[in-house]
Amino acid sequence: MKQYLKKHEWQIIEQGFDPHYNRISESIFSLGNGRMGQRANFEEKYSGDTHQGTYVAGVYYPDKTRVGWWKNGYPEYFAKVLNAPSWIGIQIKIGKHDLDLKQCKVAGFKRVLDMKQGLLQRSFVATLPDGKKVKIEASRFCSMADGEVGAIRYSITPENFSANAVITLSVDADVVNKDSNYDEKFWTEVAKEAKAGLALVTAETKKTQFHVTTAITYSIRSAGKTVKGKSKANKKEKYADNVVTIPLKKGVETIIYKYAAVLSSENHPKKKLADNAKKKLKAAATAGYDQLFAAHVAVWTEIWKKCDVTIEGDIAAQQGIRFNIFQLMQTYTGEDQRLNIGPKGFTGEKYGGSTYWDTEAYCLPFYLGTSDPKVGRNLLIYRHKHLKRAIENAQKLGFTNGAALYPMVTMNGEECHNEWEITFEEIHRNGAIAFAIYDYIRYTGDEKYLSEFGLEVLLGISRFWSQRITFSEAKQKYVMLGVTGPNEYENNVNNNWYTSYIACWTMEYTQQALDFVRKDDPTKFNKLVASTKFNEKEETTRWGDIRKRMYLGEDKKLGVYLQQDGFLDKELVPVSQLRPQDRPLNQKWSWDRILRSCYIKQADVLQGLYLFDDRFDNATIQRNFDFYEPLTVHESSLSPCVHVILASKIGYKEKAYEMYLRTSRLDLDDYNNDTEDGCHITSMAGTWMSVVKGFGGMRVKDGKLHFNPFIPDQWKSYSFRIEFRGHVIKVKVSKQGVETIRESGEPVQLVLNGSTITV
Ligand code: BGC
Repeated sequence: MKQYLKKHEWQIIEQGFDPHYNRISESIFSLGNGRMGQRANFEEKYSGDTHQGTYVAGVYYPDKTRVGWWKNGYPEYFAKVLNAPSWIGIQIKIGKHDLDLKQCKVAGFKRVLDMKQGLLQRSFVATLPDGKKVKIEASRFCSMADGEVGAIRYSITPENFSANAVITLSVDADVVNKDSNYDEKFWTEVAKEAKAGLALVTAETKKTQFHVTTAITYSIRSAGKTVKGKSKANKKEKYADNVVTIPLKKGVETIIYKYAAVLSSENHPKKKLADNAKKKLKAAATAGYDQLFAAHVAVWTEIWKKCDVTIEGDIAAQQGIRFNIFQLMQTYTGEDQRLNIGPKGFTGEKYGGSTYWDTEAYCLPFYLGTSDPKVGRNLLIYRHKHLKRAIENAQKLGFTNGAALYPMVTMNGEECHNEWEITFEEIHRNGAIAFAIYDYIRYTGDEKYLSEFGLEVLLGISRFWSQRITFSEAKQKYVMLGVTGPNEYENNVNNNWYTSYIACWTMEYTQQALDFVRKDDPTKFNKLVASTKFNEKEETTRWGDIRKRMYLGEDKKLGVYLQQDGFLDKELVPVSQLRPQDRPLNQKWSWDRILRSCYIKQADVLQGLYLFDDRFDNATIQRNFDFYEPLTVHESSLSPCVHVILASKIGYKEKAYEMYLRTSRLDLDDYNNDTEDGCHITSMAGTWMSVVKGFGGMRVKDGKLHFNPFIPDQWKSYSFRIEFRGHVIKVKVSKQGVETIRESGEPVQLVLNGSTITV
């Protein structure tokens, strides 16, 4: 755990420059706007330790996985989110020396992420090796008002000298992925231009042939006047720049404005990319930094109006929750049905930028509660678009009759991970995708979604479960063999309770969906039956039989559900008895030892009790919590939030608060010692759920919002806003009681601590 960042309600602040923390800060201070994003790298040259990272949504590279141990059914490739051409470079040379924080004495360094306005700021005074002192103040943002535009304001003030400065404003497509084998580069050059006031590179990704055009222009002002300087334009392989020489006067501030347009062939015809980028760039430069920034801030103001969470009396918790909301909102804006939420967003390359079950199980509730319903709908449609591929994916594994297995990790619907036991066998993701349809409809009331898209997906998933589940003569029950549950610290187990439960639930819900669509849209229903060759009688009879006779492991004496058949054979030694030097297990123990141990990476049985908490009484939840939580190491960032929600429900307030701190400041305090790889974006949605579903006890039942709030002892008050069916409701909880305020929409009924009230 590291605590070098200053606490502030709306800002993340790093004061003083410690190069050892630079990669962590580069992750934490990242910027994005749904279309593109970047780590908080310095604009000027930096020869110290850094991970340079710029990313464009949806642009990836399929790296080979055909290695010696490749077997039938393994995926063809492992997707990598690509480090994309960088547009931030502003290199400064004064006299013989580069401005390079590694080579200079640095004073007064401050890096600030202003979450209210979506602005990254940095200031410092650098002393160059020849004694020249220069003050720098840099600000930049990726526009939320136009996802293809970014801007930088970079101010230079010489403190003890006057001299010429040579300023290089670059576009650099000669970039490499951190996890690239043998430093292989994934971009080839298509075109480039460099002339006064323009540097542009169009680059193409190998294999996937995405084109990205990155274009920059600039203006320089000093003492209220435009500074032209002497300029030169240069081109190199995958690189273009403008080099400007300008006079710097002691004590006088010079400001460089750099504008960037980043366009990808996902949104523009390849032939028009460069022209469109130039047009966009011209418009941005004409509008100017202040106007672009005002439009960007206006978007953030609207976002915060709908989804801010306040916490009084605990500044660390306040900063934590806003940081989580900020990162989620700048990662995914919900406008593009082809995009999704990678576990690291735009902050790093781990997990390949791909889509995981994280989206449905964790992120969807956040976007439902904070955004227009179309955002949640688009997340569901993303999977509907991938249905054909999910069916092909299942076919590759030997399934038939339109059975669909969604990938654990994907960019375009194909499975693109290569760890068979862990990720492939985590077929529980299919359940999360089915549950998300139910969750979306329960929240929004948009039942039509079933007729339009939902049923087709549910049918494919239920067909998969019905084939994947087999009958055990010995048990005289249906069983599910060889799976990995959400707990990745056990692989290839039999009868994982969570997976079996969600499979049966899917078949039950699919039956309800069939009945609904048959009535709601008979034409659509008949068309679907024909196109999927659905033998309703035979298939639903089997689903019904499975549901009746499914083996769901339970130990009656302990009163708990069994994570898997062999769980009770393990040596059950609580986590509290592990030696501190053995933690985290995934960095200290062999994989073999972890697999045999009783230690649980993340909620598994408890994941099921969380999703289906309306089907289990509190005593059952409590018994399972008391049994499993002490064996859980929470080494997945997705774990603590589920525990907050369940602990809140069964009245374990201290436990709920302890787990909350862990989820909300996971990256800010670098709990798991891995923030330098990027932030845990998907689990940030869990932080929001911890407040709203955990402490606030929010649920939706029969079309109404229910709240059952409590307040952690450490807080004076907290409040959150919920977007629900055309209303924005603010719930404020203090030691004195609960206030509900309707901030927009018509009067609405909700249920507070069991009583119906009108807001
Ligand atoms: C977790 C998975 C999760 C993945 C991406 C893993 O560590 O165990 O459940 O999907 O990270 O966030």
